[in-house]
Amino acid sequence: MLDKQRIQIIKKDFPILNREVNEKKLVYLDNAATTQKPIQVIEAIRKYYEYYNANVHRGVYTLAEEATAAYEESRKEIVDFINANSYEEIIFVRNATEAINLVAYAWGRKFIKEGDKIVVSQMEHHSNLIPWQILSREKKAKLEFIGITEEGKLNEEDFNKIDKKTKLVAITHVSNVLGTINRVEEITKIAHELGALVLVDGAQSVPHMPVDVKKIDCDFLAFSGHKMLGPMGIGVLFAKREILEEMPPFLTGGEMIKNVDFYESTWNDLPWKYEAGTPNVEGAIGLAEAIRYLKNIGMENIRAHEKALVKLALSKLSDIKGLVIYGPKDPEIRGGVISFNLGNIHAHDVASILDQEGVQIRAGHHCAKLVMKKFNVPAMARASFYLYNDEEDIDALYSALNVTKKVFGLD
Ligand SMILES: Cc1ncc(COP(=O)(O)O)c(C=O)c1O
Repeated sequence: MLDKQRIQIIKKDFPILNREVNEKKLVYLDNAATTQKPIQVIEAIRKYYEYYNANVHRGVYTLAEEATAAYEESRKEIVDFINANSYEEIIFVRNATEAINLVAYAWGRKFIKEGDKIVVSQMEHHSNLIPWQILSREKKAKLEFIGITEEGKLNEEDFNKIDKKTKLVAITHVSNVLGTINRVEEITKIAHELGALVLVDGAQSVPHMPVDVKKIDCDFLAFSGHKMLGPMGIGVLFAKREILEEMPPFLTGGEMIKNVDFYESTWNDLPWKYEAGTPNVEGAIGLAEAIRYLKNIGMENIRAHEKALVKLALSKLSDIKGLVIYGPKDPEIRGGVISFNLGNIHAHDVASILDQEGVQIRAGHHCAKLVMKKFNVPAMARASFYLYNDEEDIDALYSALNVTKKVFGLD
């Protein structure tokens, strides 16, 4: 775990953590939904608007050149962060959802044919499910599922669903509900041996642990800036260059063209071929600053910190009678996410009482209805951690759950 002094210094960087909620100290435990922003990110965006705001790639004047340089420098920060080969492999999008849709529309509509297979898992966020449902229906392809074990891991027996007919395996790196860290390197190896490409949904991994696209060898990686201290409305699609070269564009219009004639046009070089229209410049600048912040602390340290928090929380919460915790018990294979139900109290009621205590958690189906189906519940409550959470936050969660039990008369 990061030491107490370090956490106190980190906390000071997040102005929102000073506020109160319902006259209680704010305890923010909904980091899987979105994270808070440090002052460094807020200031970087403010500086952009106060000092060098202009549209990018179009002007030859100073402000436009400065804005373009900052936008493209931000892309390089991402290349380095996930160990991509070059800036050509980094496409700025709105979020992980858009990144996955880009692949489904541009790659999928060209390369998926009738009778092909797309393999996903039952653990997927709807963002990594619905695009494949639509594509497979449209193309008369087959959508197959890797199931979930009772412990909340991928059912490895289902890996044999990946076969020679499979064109794509789309899989989450870390489950946003169960916290399970999936062995995406191994899945990629299996898929590649059979000629399939692999898309990794990194929405819950890239913010929390070192993620290296060369090590995983995935063909696509999607993630969102707002889940990693960056602003909303900016996300990233990484794809291998040779695949991006072969794919048609997704959105079309300004910026993504090279030559335009009356009836035909040609496409811009990578990565701009996939960035039609005015991009989210402030988003890219904010995300790059967020990455610098994370790198300064160290992704290994962040992972170790969350692992220690999860271990502590799992052990502390286990003495609350009636609390059912979902997902793997081993913190080694679990990210900083703990989903649970308390007796037969609806998850929304649990979250409302916790809110009265200042503890902010999420409740619902977490955009993963197939996970709810597996565990036969309509909803779960979820606490999710990040680098600014500490032991005291777990204590606050623990006490608030005991208050909830009292309110509902559970012993
Ligand atoms: C695993 C996973 N994938 C995809 C997404 C979608 O992210 P966004 O809403 O930023 O597109 C989320 C969001 O919670 C997620 O947890």
